[in-house]
Amino acid sequence: MDEAQIYKKLDRIKEIPTLPTIVFELNQHLQNPETSIAKVSETIEKDQAMALKILKLVNSAFYGFRSKVSDIKNAVVLLGFNAVRNAIVSVSIINTLPKTLLFQDFEMIDFWKHSLAVAVTSKNIAQKAGMESPDNCFVGGLLHDIGKVIMAQYFKDDFAKVWSRMQNEYLPFHEAEQQELPVDHTKIGAYLADRWALPNGLIDAIRWHHDFQPNNGNAGFMINIHLADILVNSYDEHPDCTLDMGAMHPEVVKFLMVQMENTSDWYANLAGEIEAAHAFFLADEF
Ligand SMILES: [Fe+2]
Ligand SMILES: [Fe+2]
Repeated sequence: MDEAQIYKKLDRIKEIPTLPTIVFELNQHLQNPETSIAKVSETIEKDQAMALKILKLVNSAFYGFRSKVSDIKNAVVLLGFNAVRNAIVSVSIINTLPKTLLFQDFEMIDFWKHSLAVAVTSKNIAQKAGMESPDNCFVGGLLHDIGKVIMAQYFKDDFAKVWSRMQNEYLPFHEAEQQELPVDHTKIGAYLADRWALPNGLIDAIRWHHDFQPNNGNAGFMINIHLADILVNSYDEHPDCTLDMGAMHPEVVKFLMVQMENTSDWYANLAGEIEAAHAFFLADEF
């Protein structure tokens, strides 16, 4: 299949996962500068399962507020509009995608563990570097590899070729993919994000997470997701080694040096937060 045929096939897939209407309704409210806490809370309360999940989130170790929060209005006040929207998007995405993919040893739980680790790391990079909206970075991290799931689900033969080359030649997934296919999980993921009408910055961050583009208008957001993915992958493989800066884009090295001193100590401190994210987002699902 060439690139155009792959997109054609993607367009034809009717049952491609869609986000629940609550996400679009919330986005609409939040685009209106005059929206109110009452409006946002009402929208969330229409979806009971989601409302419960949000209450569980504010009361979880992940946020660690001291007093118990028992209604959605308070939750919205405490978390803020953006954090609530992003939590809902995150929960919806994890619910929407299949729980199991019958594909050899590609396991959805491992996929989400990696994605959540990148999400938490991205959010913390944003906080440490004083970037805007750390919560948007969380969603970016969560979604960056989403193209892999679509590939494993709808392009099984292609995915199988990549998977076996990766295993036989001990290559990173993305290199095996570049050798086997005309498109990769970054393009397929960006295509899906576009179909979900997600913001442009998010689409760009997904599209370029393996190949940083310093001149892109969304470079700040992109460098964050790109770096978080590198940190999670490197420290997973060599927990006590330094990073291979030679393999990084010079702009990324610069960012790392200027904004992120003591990266390995700082990263090690995220372990607890990553575990809390795994517990909250995955415990009921898998
Ligand atoms: Fe990736
Ligand atoms: Fe990744």
